Amino acid sequence: MVEHQSQPGWRAVEDYFSATLVKGGPVMDAVIESIAAAGLPPIEVAPTAGKFLMLLARIQGARRVLEIGTLAGYSTIWLARGMPDDGHLTSCEYLPEHAAVASKNIAAAGFGAKVDIRVGAALDTLPTLAGGEPFDLVFIDADKGNNTNYLRWALKLTRPGSVIVMDNVVWEGAILAPGDDPDAAAIRAALDFLGASDALDATAIQTVGAKGWDGFVIAVVR
Ligand code: SAH
Ligand code: DHB
Ligand code: MG
Repeated sequence: MVEHQSQPGWRAVEDYFSATLVKGGPVMDAVIESIAAAGLPPIEVAPTAGKFLMLLARIQGARRVLEIGTLAGYSTIWLARGMPDDGHLTSCEYLPEHAAVASKNIAAAGFGAKVDIRVGAALDTLPTLAGGEPFDLVFIDADKGNNTNYLRWALKLTRPGSVIVMDNVVWEGAILAPGDDPDAAAIRAALDFLGASDALDATAIQTVGAKGWDGFVIAVVR
């Protein structure tokens, strides 16, 4: 491949993919605007990743989805778009002010009946979900310090064939040199937990894009 100084970089390619393939539409634009308007951190997944979650839900035929970390409902709405009409998504969010923004966005997107936001620490909510039908897909994207705990809960709340996705597993490369970043160390510990587990098959995909250098894990429960 010939490289030119003038060749567009990965940001331009990402924008092109978002405009050409992803096409989130006005609903997704409004969610992004709501994040800025409410002063929430702009840490929602990239549009290309959101669409990936939607496609994954569809490929999996996911009727029951668990999300840990709602923020403004951006990834939630993408997941809900990939689910059948009788599907149900439970999303855990610690901060009531985030949940309030998300509830509005999810209702505006037409998924008020499909999505249930549980406000509180996810580690308090997750035990209340045990004993129900297993989840077909789990998306972990909250406080990184609890990633290994969330993986353990995901294994308890799923069945063979369920899919587990975990966001932010590269953290700009800091997982290999955590230094004094406790999140980086926790993400690394969760990856090592996955690698040592016989309960699932996992891989990780690095990404560059709207959210810098990061990546996600995808795993299937054995
Ligand atoms: N998945 C969202 C982004 C989530 S950002 C998207 O892609 O659109 C991470 C979210 O996790 C924040 O809203 C934060 O408040 C929430 N969070 C942090 N600690 C949490 C905890 N202990 N339990 C549940 N949610 C938590
Ligand atoms: C942060 C959290 C995320 O889930 C993410 O996708 C990007 C950044 C953060 O806490 O900085
Ligand atoms: Mg994330």
